[in-house]
Amino acid sequence: MCGIVGYVGDQQCAPILLDGLKRLEYRGYDSAGTAIYDGAGIDVRRAVGKLRNLEKAIDEAKPQGSVGIGHTRWATHGRPSEVNAHPHLIGDVAVVHNGIIENHLALRARLVERGATITSDTDTEIVAHLIDQRVREGADIEAAVRGALGEVRGAYALAVLSAKEPDRLVVAKSASPLVLGLGEGEAFCGSDIPALLPYTRDMIFLEDGEMAVLERGKATITTLAGAAVERAPQRIDWSPVMAEKAGFKHFMLKEIHEQPRAMEDTLRGRLDRENGDIHGLEIGLSDEDARGIERVYLLACGTSYHAAMTGRYLIERLAKVPATVEIASEFRGRDPIIGPGDLVVAVSQSGETLDTLIAAKEAKSRGAKVLAIVNVIGSAIPRAADAAFYTHAGPEIGVASTKCFTTQLANLLMFSVWLGRRRGALDADQTRALVEDMARLPHLMRDVLLGTRQLVANLAKRYNEARDVLFLGRGMSFPIALEGALKLKEISYVHAEGYAAGEMKHGPIALIDSSVPVLVLCPKDPWYERTLSNLQEAKAREAMVIAIATEGDEEVRDVAHDLVEIPEVRTELTPFLTVLPLQLYSYYVADFKGTDVDQPRNLAKTVTVE
Ligand code: G6P
Repeated sequence: MCGIVGYVGDQQCAPILLDGLKRLEYRGYDSAGTAIYDGAGIDVRRAVGKLRNLEKAIDEAKPQGSVGIGHTRWATHGRPSEVNAHPHLIGDVAVVHNGIIENHLALRARLVERGATITSDTDTEIVAHLIDQRVREGADIEAAVRGALGEVRGAYALAVLSAKEPDRLVVAKSASPLVLGLGEGEAFCGSDIPALLPYTRDMIFLEDGEMAVLERGKATITTLAGAAVERAPQRIDWSPVMAEKAGFKHFMLKEIHEQPRAMEDTLRGRLDRENGDIHGLEIGLSDEDARGIERVYLLACGTSYHAAMTGRYLIERLAKVPATVEIASEFRGRDPIIGPGDLVVAVSQSGETLDTLIAAKEAKSRGAKVLAIVNVIGSAIPRAADAAFYTHAGPEIGVASTKCFTTQLANLLMFSVWLGRRRGALDADQTRALVEDMARLPHLMRDVLLGTRQLVANLAKRYNEARDVLFLGRGMSFPIALEGALKLKEISYVHAEGYAAGEMKHGPIALIDSSVPVLVLCPKDPWYERTLSNLQEAKAREAMVIAIATEGDEEVRDVAHDLVEIPEVRTELTPFLTVLPLQLYSYYVADFKGTDVDQPRNLAKTVTVE
């Protein structure tokens, strides 16, 4: 899982490559490198650690040239080191790669037998050797890449530069993301849209099993077998400013505060307030399909899994359809009983998480219909699905997901209401009331963020030394408790557990003493009374209890040490509001600790390995 970028044009490419890599650093940040054709040969610069180390190396060397490739790495094969960093230059051929070549050991053995000297531990160097061999035998670079890819098995997005044909780049894709960009007299490639946004908005999504030759102002696409592919560029309307920090200290904080706007964009055009209904156009299901669904499977990983868990409650509550939620990597492994009649909802911010992608494909191959709830347009999961219902959160750069989580909840809620109405589980009045309440969400979220920010920052400061933190919730607040704990773990490295409040007495209660903050989600909902009992049990064991509760709840105010209030809303909307103080809490704890909030250690934004 890495980020790649490439440029061919007339501008100096080092700054363009570095700028693209900065936007891709979220994909991995243990080493980085560039390869630039400088008129005589290929100049390679590589550096271990964050991108600023590469920047320094390039600043000193000042490589000149207008065709080049770059890479930011997240180690899969071989530890982070300069020799394992990309690009790999073999003979006249430089290669950057994102993905995993599965048969690299067999290929390596064969190359060594034929006398090749392999210096790194990476699977990528093997590909560079395979291409170089063909170039040395007289093949042009396009044919050499095509031939080499005929030998490899696995996942890749590749960009290749040859000193013999320095006016072009050859790129190829299988299972890892790759976007092409076209400008006036120039062409780009990158792992995602934001890497290219400052330079062009005209983009082409390469499909699996395709390659392209990039020349100035031109991309010629073919299949790996050599058949021509015609694909017009799509215009992307994300502005580069949307991908900047906009004055916030971290992307994560900016993205937390962007949630009201992201919610507005996600609801826009979907809520049919005139008729008190949800527009179903993008869901890809007819009303008859909706009535025929026997069961819904929700599949996801990480934060998206917590959105999917909440989605299960929403679907069962509002549409009265049995719903199962599963971690994508577990679903795949257990030969699931699934087929026609089942609807799979694959939830993913990036649309590239490999486990979710493979699980969705597997479900589809068994006859289930697949609906993707995804943020990144044109990514792999929606392409593999029957329909895509996009969240419109805009680019999310912070590794810890925030605005994409709440917009996923929005799509899951809209889907549940749409389904419930079609199946007769909701009548016209209920549907209209839900639609009206949903329309208030951006405004309510803005109020909660502004109203709780300072209080939560103070709490984070007070409890910032805690070594263990417990998050409790029942019903629809249970996944939010898990999400609160995940956020804290991810960015502040504090041990945190999310628990169904009713389970507390079956284990986690043993952890509680006066040093443990316990955050209890207890909004006024059908689970309120029982959660309150659990809150009291925690208090009785001397925990520091922070309650996230409904405004004006005097009972909770009396018991909890600290109280964060959210406005009174219907049960289905509580997760949208209770999660906000939890996101802020983890952000401020991490910020007080001084951790790398946007790029926490060992994590990556998009996980395209199994
Ligand atoms: C990584 C990210 C998480 C994300 C998860 C699933 O672990 O760090 O923030 O929730 O992948 O990603 P997806 O793109 O499928 O939502």
